[in-house]
Amino acid sequence: MNRKEFIVKSCAACIGATALSTIVSSCAATQFANGKLTKDGILIDVNEFALKEKDKYRLYIVVRNEALLFPICVYRFSDTDYAALWMQCAHQGAELNVAGDYLQCPAHGSEYSNRGKVTNGPADRDLRTFPVTLNNNQIFIDLRKA
Ligand code: FES
Repeated sequence: MNRKEFIVKSCAACIGATALSTIVSSCAATQFANGKLTKDGILIDVNEFALKEKDKYRLYIVVRNEALLFPICVYRFSDTDYAALWMQCAHQGAELNVAGDYLQCPAHGSEYSNRGKVTNGPADRDLRTFPVTLNNNQIFIDLRKA
């Protein structure tokens, strides 16, 4: 193997390893929860955020329910501070992807903060958000207000 072949094969191996680790880490990081629909909103168990390590928590979970047209991403900032974001892009309505501590639109690249503020266009409006309250280890996402 000459130097050029070595470099080409090494680069291909690195790109493959990077792509695989990205796919594996993004799958492992996302926790999906089936929210329990109530008359006014959705309930999720606060333990959905818990990790195996003591006092470690997921950054976010994605709540799905068959009655919802889009999922809701719930970010955890502290024991009592959560943000619930409707995962529909404010530009033309595509479903957003979660990219760690921000959301990104696969259609035209808009980005939103973990509080739902638009940080990168073409979207020019923030995401729809819902009030979140905590009661007896249950997180209530109030769908009546946005
Ligand atoms: S639909 Fe999301 S940026 Fe256009």
